[in-house]
Amino acid sequence: MMANKSLSSIVVLISGSGSNLQSIIDKADDIGVNIECVISNKADAFGLERAKKADIPTKFIDHTKFKSREDFDQMLINHINIINPKLVVLAGFMRILSAKFIDAFANKIINIHPALLPKFKGLNTHQRAIDAGEEFAGATVHFVTNALDSGKVILQKSIAIKANDDAKSLAKKVLKQEHILYPEAIKKILL
Ligand code: GRF
Repeated sequence: MMANKSLSSIVVLISGSGSNLQSIIDKADDIGVNIECVISNKADAFGLERAKKADIPTKFIDHTKFKSREDFDQMLINHINIINPKLVVLAGFMRILSAKFIDAFANKIINIHPALLPKFKGLNTHQRAIDAGEEFAGATVHFVTNALDSGKVILQKSIAIKANDDAKSLAKKVLKQEHILYPEAIKKILL
């Protein structure tokens, strides 16, 4: 597919289901992006199927085949450099990126995290929010820096935690909000 010149090119990195990727695919025209490529480090990531269905080029790069994190990241850098996108969008990409990668695309990498940062960085966010007795949960889109889940916040969306919520029900509700939030945040940055 030829890229439309008025759209901003983005690359999306995934490792799994890709429901956030789907929300970006569905709103791509509205938010003015062309997804040039979807890259996964997992061969069976369902997001790869979503991309193929939308006629988006895909690339599987197996991180287990590389000697070091930096070697894998260099391969990612090589592929993304060919595309030279405006933004590198992490959507459920379950790899810590090295400083080498982050420096290569400084201020161009964004991530969505299923918590109201700066609270609950890292994994298992929903259970930790419930255990801490939080009133609200939510999601954050932020720039990626060398400190995990600590870059500048772009947008957040919060929802109330109900007394009968468990980690599973909360994850489901937050994910629904993520699907609204991520396209909005991308639009905001590209304005
Ligand atoms: C989302 O909860 C996102 O916040 C986190 O990983 C999950 C990815 O889900 N970073 P999906 O692959 O987009 O469905």
